Amino acid sequence: MNANQLRTLFLNYFRTRDHAIIGSASLIPEGDPSVLFTTAGMHPLAPFLLGEPHPAGRRLASCQKCLRTNDILEVGDATHLTFFEMLGNWSLGDYWKQTSIRYSYDFLTNHLGLEADRLYVTCFEGDEIAPRDEEAAAIWRDIGIPEQRIFFLPKADNWWGPAGATGPCGPDTEIFYDTNPNGPSAETPATNGQRFVEVWNNVFMQYDQQANGHMGRLATRNVDTGLGLERTLAIVQGVTSPYETELFLPLVDAIQTLATTSDAFAVRVIADHARAATFVLGEGIQPGNVDQPYVARRLIRRAIRYGWTIGISAPFLAQLADVVIHMFADVYPELEAQGAQIAAALDEEESRFQRTLARGERATNTLLVDAQTAGQRALAGQEAFHLYETYGFPLELTQELAAQKGLTVDAEGFQQAFAAHQEASKQGAAERFRGGLVERRPETIRLHTATHLLHAALRQVLGTHVEQRGSNITPERLRFDFSHSAKLSDDELRQVQDLVNAQIALDTPVVWQEMSVDAAKAEGAIGLFEERYGDRVKVYTIDGFSKEICGGPHVTHTGELGHFRITKEQAVGAGVRRIRAVLA
Ligand code: ALA
Repeated sequence: MNANQLRTLFLNYFRTRDHAIIGSASLIPEGDPSVLFTTAGMHPLAPFLLGEPHPAGRRLASCQKCLRTNDILEVGDATHLTFFEMLGNWSLGDYWKQTSIRYSYDFLTNHLGLEADRLYVTCFEGDEIAPRDEEAAAIWRDIGIPEQRIFFLPKADNWWGPAGATGPCGPDTEIFYDTNPNGPSAETPATNGQRFVEVWNNVFMQYDQQANGHMGRLATRNVDTGLGLERTLAIVQGVTSPYETELFLPLVDAIQTLATTSDAFAVRVIADHARAATFVLGEGIQPGNVDQPYVARRLIRRAIRYGWTIGISAPFLAQLADVVIHMFADVYPELEAQGAQIAAALDEEESRFQRTLARGERATNTLLVDAQTAGQRALAGQEAFHLYETYGFPLELTQELAAQKGLTVDAEGFQQAFAAHQEASKQGAAERFRGGLVERRPETIRLHTATHLLHAALRQVLGTHVEQRGSNITPERLRFDFSHSAKLSDDELRQVQDLVNAQIALDTPVVWQEMSVDAAKAEGAIGLFEERYGDRVKVYTIDGFSKEICGGPHVTHTGELGHFRITKEQAVGAGVRRIRAVLA
């Protein structure tokens, strides 16, 4: 079975069980300020898990593009990837545990042919919020999973969500595949995550984590599941990692052809990062220093650095992106459409990195000479870390340059500084999630409508090449990234601001209508997320001014917005500008 067949088999399985198949949403969450990337199939469905009726019905399934950066340091092992595809099925207040678990088991054993004896499951052990999930365990026993292959684990393992700090969540039951049935019998999914590969997670979403810490109840009992495409494919094909499946092989081959030495780990990291960077750039993101642009930059630079370790130095990523684009042309045609921009962005970032490295080498030499002059025998770890942070210099490179001057580097100090930095960025990420996955405070709803007005105003003033590249809303302000190459003049900024305020003064009703993607396009609706709801989309109209595909919610009249003021305009990457604005 190949990847295309697996996707199709999965979606058909659920289609014939009355699920509507929805297309993959963008990798960049729409109107969702709290997270940088879509990290799970449920992410674009959050409003519907919270109770809004989904236009396609109460049973859904999809294959969703996802990106998770929290596992970036694990990449290279047999299971962790940054970019991956998640197959998923959902019940929005429709079926519950029994049906969901039976679907998963039936699909894995009868349709994928996995040996039932190699499946292990875990269930939630219970806490003060939710009881021990005896219901799920009883279903598993009933299906025939013996007691010794059912484990109860705490919240850290068997509770999923919310995807940000707030939103739908609940206990889950996870299905693991034993890749080494002859291994020690004492090992379990809880003790060995490499041997027991988690393939499917069924989350029973009954809860709503609220911003004030309170755990609310959702109006309906929902099921959210996720089956990792790459892992599952590797298992079905009987290979030990996704890198040995056709989802990676052409890429791995291309990297090995370029390399002068062999190192399987480096090849895997480069393959993962080249693939992820291609998909991120395919969303119109340009490498930069913050948010999604920063993740793109980090993936690219990590790939380049791993490239050095196996003798790849020439610009090479555009070539790899080309391989990725061809591999996925049928499934994600948007990549091909963005092909030229992806290649240009990679070339530009590679040469920018070369220049940074040249500067870094000069800075390193200065630090080394200073250390020598001070009579030190080793460069301080903190300084080596500074070189890493500022110029992307890996420790090994600094060590090499130091050795040329007869010095060593305090590697332990470097690791300490590195760990401290990681801790700080983790806290930063947690901070970013504050405010939740789906913000429904009146302030953010007003800013969301203001974002539509701003988008339309920018297109009127600057031209229709202006397209949304990102949006981030907190209760205090909106932030809107859009394609435009030049700095906005004061006059342009004033025109944009005046246009928005004029629309607010008109107190136009904000209305929405559900229609087909084609009808939305025919009406001239803007918005990059056509596929989000499958066939039917919601189009928000502010009559005579703005028409945009969007999940909402919005205010009912523009007059509710008050006064709109742009507070800042800046560049965030090549060809992308950012505006911050407030409502007063
Ligand atoms: N949302 C669940 C997960 O990502 C299915 O594992």
